[in-house]
Amino acid sequence: MDSQKSHVIVLAYPAQGHINPLLQFAKRLASKGLKATLATTYYTVSSIDAPTVGVEPISDGFDEGGFKQASSLDVYLESFKTVGSRTLTELVFKFKASGSPVNCIVYDSMLPWALDVARNLGIYAAVFMTTSASICSMFWQIDLGLLSLPLKPQTATVSLPGLPPLGRCDLPSPMSEPTSQTAYLEAIMEKFHSLNEDDWVFCNSFEDLEIELVKAMRGKWPLVMVGPMVPSAYLDQQIDGDRAYGASLWKPTSSQCLTWLATKPPRSVIYGSFGSMENISAEQVEEIAWGLKASNRPFLWVLKESEKKLPTGFLNSVGETGMVVSWCNQLEVLAHQAIGCFVTHCGWNSTLEGLGLGVPMVCVTERTDQPMNAKFVEDVWKVGVRTKKDEVGIVTREELEKCIRGAMDGESGEEIKRNANKWRELARSAVSVGGTSDMNINEFVVKLLEGKK
Ligand code: UDX
Repeated sequence: MDSQKSHVIVLAYPAQGHINPLLQFAKRLASKGLKATLATTYYTVSSIDAPTVGVEPISDGFDEGGFKQASSLDVYLESFKTVGSRTLTELVFKFKASGSPVNCIVYDSMLPWALDVARNLGIYAAVFMTTSASICSMFWQIDLGLLSLPLKPQTATVSLPGLPPLGRCDLPSPMSEPTSQTAYLEAIMEKFHSLNEDDWVFCNSFEDLEIELVKAMRGKWPLVMVGPMVPSAYLDQQIDGDRAYGASLWKPTSSQCLTWLATKPPRSVIYGSFGSMENISAEQVEEIAWGLKASNRPFLWVLKESEKKLPTGFLNSVGETGMVVSWCNQLEVLAHQAIGCFVTHCGWNSTLEGLGLGVPMVCVTERTDQPMNAKFVEDVWKVGVRTKKDEVGIVTREELEKCIRGAMDGESGEEIKRNANKWRELARSAVSVGGTSDMNINEFVVKLLEGKK
């Protein structure tokens, strides 16, 4: 089968933290000679600009505004399953009719029904995990019955193969508070239940990053590491490589940020961002604000609706030292030489971006996989410091300031910087020609080019 006849649809869940790695994967496949089409919902396609891949809409049943229009996550996921299965099938038929048949669907693990679509059409199916392999291994162990939920009240630490001992507060939130996140947990578990039915199981991570787990699980599960999915100009240093994911659900204020960053000394600025779904309480915003100010360093902070959330008089009090924007091109900012530290919620993409660009991190986590990612940042990769919450669940200004100093100053800051450089190099080698992730992608491409399905 020649490359133009090997056509992959890459299906992304319509959220920034999912579209970014899946679009990047589609671009990698296209760069290796496959035809790749990104499919996502009607209300997100217009935000995508990636010339080397096709972009096509499918329906989740809420074409005007998606998830926000649904009464609950259960309702949304159920609708997406029904309407999405039909419209994805129609898309595959449309391509067949136009002489560009699809022979594989790579789908986001949040959309597990795509496996049945591929099976019914008789084409290859590959699931793409947007979290770390360590997170995947926890859900895998639950599915195998080796870890049962809810955890017993007396369980203080969970020990699993290839993972450091995990305290309750390190666990992904559907496990530490299972009753409040039933729909989310069920959606995840549905995928883990059918993991052996996929032709490939890809994970946005790289072998060196989770090497103990890779060793412990070798031959026991089907996970294949293909990450980090960060645009090539930042990682494998292709001068003419990609400088952006090519998808932005909000309008970035990048030129303003870069002009401001250019006025700051190297490695002096704190960049603060809490991902695309942040919903930080007013109390927490206030503590972060005064903690950033107290650190006595310039800071650039991404905060939506800052006019409603920031303490009165805060911006005036910081003047030119601080900049608050509603959205930026995070990669451009993290790659800027003025950035010295990343205050992050530790979403998996942000964590990989911090690692891949060698930026020391301070972790202020909220939920889902973030606490466990932060545990690895501090204890395994040693590239950052985790903040602790007080008795009412807030990271105080004093705590934030202390952790920023720990990540940037003195001996601890030096050690973190050294480790950050080491992980940056390892991330680069994984995706460079001949690296572990690159070779894993090549094997997939070769198989698809052989044809058959
Ligand atoms: C969520 C989960 O937190 C994450 O762990 C999961 O794997 C995917 O869904 P999110 O909370 O949005 O994602 O965080 P993150 O994974 O860090 O993704 C956010 C993305 O938005 C990053 O790629 C980041 O570069 C981008 N971003 C963020 C911007 O481009 N500009 C911004 O101003 C802020």
